[in-house]
Amino acid sequence: MKILIKNILTVQEKEADFQVKETSIYIENDRIVDIGNNEYEADVIIDGKNKLAIPGLINSHTHAYMTVFRNYADDLPFSQWLFEKILPLEDRLTGEDAYWGTMLGIMEMIRTGTTCFTDMYIFINEACRAVDDTGIRACLSRGLVGSGDDEGGMQRINEAKREIDFWKGQGNDRISFVIAPHAPYTCDDKYLLNVINFAKDYNLGINIHLSESRNEIAEIYDKYKCTPTEFLNRLGLFELNTLAAHCVYLSDNDIDILSEKKVNVITCPVSNLKLGNGIAPITKLLNRNVNVCLGTDGAASNNTLNMFKELQFVTLIHKGMEEKADVISASTGFKFATANAAKALGFDNKIGKIEVGYKADITILDIDKPQYYPRNNLLSALAYSTNGDEVNTVIVDGKILMRDNEFLTIDEEKVKYHIRNISKRLLI
Ligand code: NI
Repeated sequence: MKILIKNILTVQEKEADFQVKETSIYIENDRIVDIGNNEYEADVIIDGKNKLAIPGLINSHTHAYMTVFRNYADDLPFSQWLFEKILPLEDRLTGEDAYWGTMLGIMEMIRTGTTCFTDMYIFINEACRAVDDTGIRACLSRGLVGSGDDEGGMQRINEAKREIDFWKGQGNDRISFVIAPHAPYTCDDKYLLNVINFAKDYNLGINIHLSESRNEIAEIYDKYKCTPTEFLNRLGLFELNTLAAHCVYLSDNDIDILSEKKVNVITCPVSNLKLGNGIAPITKLLNRNVNVCLGTDGAASNNTLNMFKELQFVTLIHKGMEEKADVISASTGFKFATANAAKALGFDNKIGKIEVGYKADITILDIDKPQYYPRNNLLSALAYSTNGDEVNTVIVDGKILMRDNEFLTIDEEKVKYHIRNISKRLLI
């Protein structure tokens, strides 16, 4: 497929910042082949008038299947939310439910401009199927919990191995994997060593929740007499490329470790706020050159998978908290959702930017909207004025997944039908 996007305002990285200028983007198969030349014959020509092309957003931490729990257990403390409401429901969830939940999550992500997401889930194969069927890009991971060599925990590792063996690289490499020990409070030290060996064998990185709540800090201190970050560091987990979600409570020593070990921190501000967990020390991490990325977490604790909403929060809350308007600028926040996220996945020469040779993962916004006039600073508009409804067309791996707001790979009504039925069965 050859696609020419003609005369479109385009967000590109320039030195340490971004520039926005009108240009043309030519795509052949899965790649961006030329920028700045519109003399191509193409199968599809997209008129760029009143449109804005941005690198597809990357949601670095979510649980897509959890859309089925959206607006079900709100305004509850974290422990009560997780242990009394969400986990009992997950026990009743089937693989088919998880598939449709993931489909709904992907629909919402595409509609709000996300082209790649890092997912942690409980049903093997279902997330892979949904990613394969829809054409989105994803880095997938089966959540692992266990203690020592317990049968359940080892079985989950074996399931994850089978899944990776079968799915890795499918869909022209759109499907990739990391290994996901759920959290320091759901995996003990011996089990984590099993997980680390698994990750080393498969040469894959780690996706984990870290220092999300005060309870976690207290629990790990009781058990191991250290912080969760020190605990994982002692086990050698950070020798592997790690995506650590949340990192709300960090000591100065924790920040030293995360910086030194080049751990990628995935901040999920809305989920942390909603569950009453607090606000992560993101500016301190940035001052120590930690690679910070952005995630929505699951729809049960957010309650959307809209990265524009997340971008707005991450660029606002730290200004308010620190009483400094110049921390986490629009450009910095936008990088969390694009280039930094690509780097965390080891895809920094492949996605996260609109550049020749990069994968054609592009989100096109219709900016003929009141909130986009006047066009003084389009980076500011992306962080502070966009609500996600502006997303008009989404391209992943050179394929158009949504064109003029119409899904081309998803039967929207079918997904809604299944979700309604699942909700009736599970949530009554
Ligand atoms: Ni999470």
